[in-house]
Amino acid sequence: MAELKKIPLIIDCDPGVDDAVALFMMMAQDRYEILGITPVNGNKPLENSEKNSLMLCELAGREDIPVLHGAHKAVFAEGRTAGAIHGATGLGGVVLPDPRKQLEKEYAWDFIGRKAKEHPGELEILAIGPLTNLAIALLKYPELAGQVKRIVIMGGGISTGNMTASGEFNIWADADAARIVFRSGIPMAMIGLEVCNEGRIMADEVAALKAGGPVSRVAGQLIGEREERSGGKGAVLCDALAAAYMIDPGVMTEVFDAVVDVETGGFITEGRTVAKRIYREFADEKANTVVCWHIDRPKLAEMIIQLCKKLDG
Ligand code: RIB
Ligand code: CA
Repeated sequence: MAELKKIPLIIDCDPGVDDAVALFMMMAQDRYEILGITPVNGNKPLENSEKNSLMLCELAGREDIPVLHGAHKAVFAEGRTAGAIHGATGLGGVVLPDPRKQLEKEYAWDFIGRKAKEHPGELEILAIGPLTNLAIALLKYPELAGQVKRIVIMGGGISTGNMTASGEFNIWADADAARIVFRSGIPMAMIGLEVCNEGRIMADEVAALKAGGPVSRVAGQLIGEREERSGGKGAVLCDALAAAYMIDPGVMTEVFDAVVDVETGGFITEGRTVAKRIYREFADEKANTVVCWHIDRPKLAEMIIQLCKKLDG
């Protein structure tokens, strides 16, 4: 049987504990060809996102993947970070050897613009940090909107935030960028906080990872630190759910169509993703986003364990 042509993919991220697990999953799967990783200021300053991306590629044996130079602040405002949530460096208590691998000289947005032109109608983007790089790319290369097949994000929430009552971090950190992306016309999929809260990784699954090879053990330590703080409810790993959805959309047991926009000016609602659910029987408006709403949690956990095991060989 002819081998399926791989789908060209760029991963935009701010590693980041859950970004790290998502990166392991994507570096192990064989449905997408990762053209590059575009780090962005997010959980920690850009320097951490870039260095962590380089180190994670090396740990996974994927030095072949280019890591680009991303945005150090929001498009129209100062950069925001998530403080100590991901530890001092962004990888919790995990310490990895300094990277041998170097950053590419090309800026993230130029790379995105160039790859979209090289893969018109095929390029997909997994964005699991603030959307600054993508927004700059869209502002600099307006033709991008007709070239990128879809953008899958971890971000937002239908009825809640985590940085404020309204703002989920990836959207809240650069709401202007998020609005530019949601309004671009590129089909979106959104893994928001509600489904993230369902897709938790439990202590026994952490133990299975810790019993594995180098990548599995690092994933086990990253997830385990969160699980230990969860009071037995399991570790929330938002970005890993977005990776799982790209690899196997069937991991989501319920999704719905919506028109999603982003509040950028509200004093207490800045960074809120505002979704109008579109019911097919009354489709009075074209949806721009597939919202992931429920997940098969055990399937997610098994995907993480098996994909990390694959990287460990
Ligand atoms: O709100 C969770 C999101 O913000 C995740 O992507 C996490 O890595 C942080 O970037
Ligand atoms: Ca992230």
